[in-house]
Amino acid sequence: MIQNEVPNAIIVKNLVKRYDAFNALDHVDLTVPFGECFGSLGPNGAGKTTLIRILTGLIHPTEGEAIVAGHDVAKRPDAVRRSIGVVSQAMTTDLDLTGRENLDIYGKYYQVPDKDRRERIGDLLERVGLTERADDLVAAYSGGMRRRLEIARGLIHRPKILFLDEPTIGLDPQSRRVVWDLYNNFERMKT
Ligand SMILES: Nc1ncnc2c1ncn2[C@@H]1O[C@H](COP(=O)(O)OP(=O)(O)OP(=O)(O)O)[C@@H](O)[C@H]1O
Ligand SMILES: [Mg+2]
Repeated sequence: MIQNEVPNAIIVKNLVKRYDAFNALDHVDLTVPFGECFGSLGPNGAGKTTLIRILTGLIHPTEGEAIVAGHDVAKRPDAVRRSIGVVSQAMTTDLDLTGRENLDIYGKYYQVPDKDRRERIGDLLERVGLTERADDLVAAYSGGMRRRLEIARGLIHRPKILFLDEPTIGLDPQSRRVVWDLYNNFERMKT
């Protein structure tokens, strides 16, 4: 399905997530159009990560419905996964690989063809300011550099929607600014 046929990026109706008797999400409704930057704010334990995990197909809701990029997350999880990029709360890039190798593995996972993948990786590394460190092991990166690499990784397959859990956690003001600039340019970075 192409983006023009899908008026909304995310539609959530009556979403409930219960862990035993505990309500982590209690009847959530929301609609996010394409092109919009949507944030959910709340204290620790409010359910922000739970909502992202449902929308990205990692866990199932107890009740309700979620449509992401035009696909029902419960019925078409593979189609949803192909349409989205995810930058999770915990950093998950591989420390024993270089930045470029980390991106390459993800690009292969998403079946980005060889030539396109090489070019896309070079382009993304440039955009997140990591070109000169691209062939260093991630173990030698600072936290902000690693976060920027994770954002590049989330964009490798040109997703229609990018999910970010705690997007600026652990970043100093300078890295925070770099990262916010990246988010502001997301529409441009998708291409
Ligand atoms: N697997 C689980 N089993 C039981 N309870 C869970 C599970 N996962 C999350 N919860 C509970 O659901 C609630 C929401 O958690 P969630 O991680 O979504 O919060 P959050 O808003 O992302 O918090 P934070 O700001 O700390 O990241 C919490 O009370 C948490 O303990
Ligand atoms: Mg969280």
